[in-house]
Amino acid sequence: MATLGKNLSFTSNKQEAFEGGTVFFICVHTPTKTQGLGKNEMHDLKYLKSCTRDIAAFFAAREMQEDIAIVEKSTVPPRTSTMVAELFSEAQIRFPTNRHRFCVLSNPEFLAEGVAVRDLTDPDRVILGAGSDPVSQAMLKVVQDLYATSVPRDKIICTQLFTSELAKLCSNAFLAQRVASINSLTPVCESLGIDIDQLAACVGSDSRIGSRYLKAGCGFGGSCLEKDLLALVYLASSLGHSETAEYWRGVYTMNEYHKKRLSATVVREMHGTLSGQKIAILGVAFKKNTNDCRGAASLTVVRELLQEGCEIHIFDYQAQRDHFVREYCSYLTDEILTEDQLARIQFHSSELSACQDAQAVVLLTEWDQFLSLDYSALYSVMRKPAYFFDCRCLLEQAALRQIGFKAFKLGFGF
Ligand code: UGA
Repeated sequence: MATLGKNLSFTSNKQEAFEGGTVFFICVHTPTKTQGLGKNEMHDLKYLKSCTRDIAAFFAAREMQEDIAIVEKSTVPPRTSTMVAELFSEAQIRFPTNRHRFCVLSNPEFLAEGVAVRDLTDPDRVILGAGSDPVSQAMLKVVQDLYATSVPRDKIICTQLFTSELAKLCSNAFLAQRVASINSLTPVCESLGIDIDQLAACVGSDSRIGSRYLKAGCGFGGSCLEKDLLALVYLASSLGHSETAEYWRGVYTMNEYHKKRLSATVVREMHGTLSGQKIAILGVAFKKNTNDCRGAASLTVVRELLQEGCEIHIFDYQAQRDHFVREYCSYLTDEILTEDQLARIQFHSSELSACQDAQAVVLLTEWDQFLSLDYSALYSVMRKPAYFFDCRCLLEQAALRQIGFKAFKLGFGF
């Protein structure tokens, strides 16, 4: 285990960090490109390139005495390893033998926010991709042994480089597909008076399908699923496989539709008029146990509701106003928040204060704390009739109704 000051240290001095190192993990952010070719779909590899150049420059000044590995931990499209290898190799002009003493390995990151430590100590699997040359195979063994100190060996999958790179994109695309699939059935359930949770339990009880990651909600968000899904769309399309690209784009389209359908449901059920009314939002983080609003469904829901002319009163246990507003402007790139809209977004330090005089509550994040709130108290400070839109299928609808709410549960209806 890593211990600060013993076998774990931090520095902002690259030279110091690289000195004596044999395995270099590149863990930088690879966001979606915001301009040029592949805009809004392709990964932007500028940080990864710059990091590779730094490592290459460090070794270009000395003759390597032992083999080294550059490990891609960042999420990257397949064949990025070739680019990393080229960048490194081309820099080794003074000591050309260095070119035969390094390799690039792939070791994609599968940690999820909020449960990162659990995923680290008890991962489903660790994937390691390597070339077949002797240096790659030797360094693969080094990294494999490193993981084997805390992860059972049968959970460490060694595969080819490009397979490992693609596996990360596909894993996130499959996760996105599951969420989109269950959410796509919520309007069907609402029309038929069927409970989506019960449907998911029936479908997920088939071990081939599995019960995890089948919870209906307000649409997948965060900085990873959508990014990697769209990178897969771009990859398929750039390889000329337009049907594959369109198939996966369908998952993205479903998610976009789902978020807008939720806000449209709120507007429709409140008789199409929200202007001048207060809407309380419980939770804006993209999921519980994080303050992260990147790509959160709340960004879309708030935008759609703002366009109806209402006031938005937000409460979240961790998400902060500045971060939310920043993400709103960068995620919805076509949307600049006007002064008027900005003034209509207010953050509160308590659930009760967010609900004061509100006409409706829209629950968007599945915080555990929301399970034990005093909803009678919230109801008592709200305007009547008071609506409750549970977009995470979190609460007992009957209990909310008992209090007096007009309670909507996603994937069931009223
Ligand atoms: C995701 C993957 O789960 C990780 O394995 C991966 O390493 C990470 O992306 C990454 O690429 O770095 P993360 O984005 O942190 O992790 O969060 P998830 O727990 O996967 O949730 C993503 C979204 O799907 C959230 O908005 C969540 O609320 C939603 N979701 C998830 C559902 O609506 N229903 C579910 O059943 C599960």
